[in-house]
Amino acid sequence: MKKKLVVLTGAGMSQESGIRTFRDMGGLWEEYDISEVATPEAWLRNPELVMKFYNDRRKQLYECTPNAGHFGLADLENAFDVQIITQNVDDLHERAGSTKVLHLHGELKKVRSTQHSELVYDLDGWELKFGDLCERGHQLRPHIVWFGEEVPAMEDAVPMVEQADIFVVVGTSLNVYPAAGLMHYTGKDVPVFVVDPERPPIGMKKVQFIEEKAGVGVRMLRDRLQELA
Ligand code: APR
Repeated sequence: MKKKLVVLTGAGMSQESGIRTFRDMGGLWEEYDISEVATPEAWLRNPELVMKFYNDRRKQLYECTPNAGHFGLADLENAFDVQIITQNVDDLHERAGSTKVLHLHGELKKVRSTQHSELVYDLDGWELKFGDLCERGHQLRPHIVWFGEEVPAMEDAVPMVEQADIFVVVGTSLNVYPAAGLMHYTGKDVPVFVVDPERPPIGMKKVQFIEEKAGVGVRMLRDRLQELA
């Protein structure tokens, strides 16, 4: 049986695909105020701005393609039982061929009802508009977990991490909880690898850092994992 490899990814994973990260220099949160575009209060106060922010992100996503890092993780399925847990709202892991992807913070290409959160739809094209309604007649909103909202996918993510034989982190500053706390659910002797040009703050022993961008870093990771398969 293949070993279970769990990979937590963040914005850095998609940086080489042309998607901006949030907290690096030139990151999205330098240009936008989180409280104005990524909170439930923002949606109530200024829904036009919130809608435009996510429409812009979605439009851009259609112009992006997976990078070598995404493809490298998908290839690891030949040797491991790979579960991706991503904070990213893009679909680049899926497009690269990864078959098990859990989205913690929602998905850009999906929308959901403002009144019935279980009514989730694939959006046709990039533009969500006012007047786009769910089947029960309520406005649709981006299917994104905003700051201050629950992260329901954590319920599935925690047991995945608990069962991991190997745990990998790629391209996240580990600033945002509860996602940033996931690695603490790993078993005592589970090897942990981190691929990121900047070392994120990890107070764990026995972490192997690969201080590279995802494209090169995932290739180096694959070499190191060979002996663990
Ligand atoms: N390859 C790998 N890592 C990279 C690359 C790259 N090419 N470029 C940047 N990084 C690293 C940075 O060094 C940093 O550690 O990616 C990380 C990006 O961190 P953030 O911008 O904070 O993104 P992330 O950790 O995914 O943010 C978490 O915050 O705003 C929210 O909901 C949003 O899911 C997001 C969450």
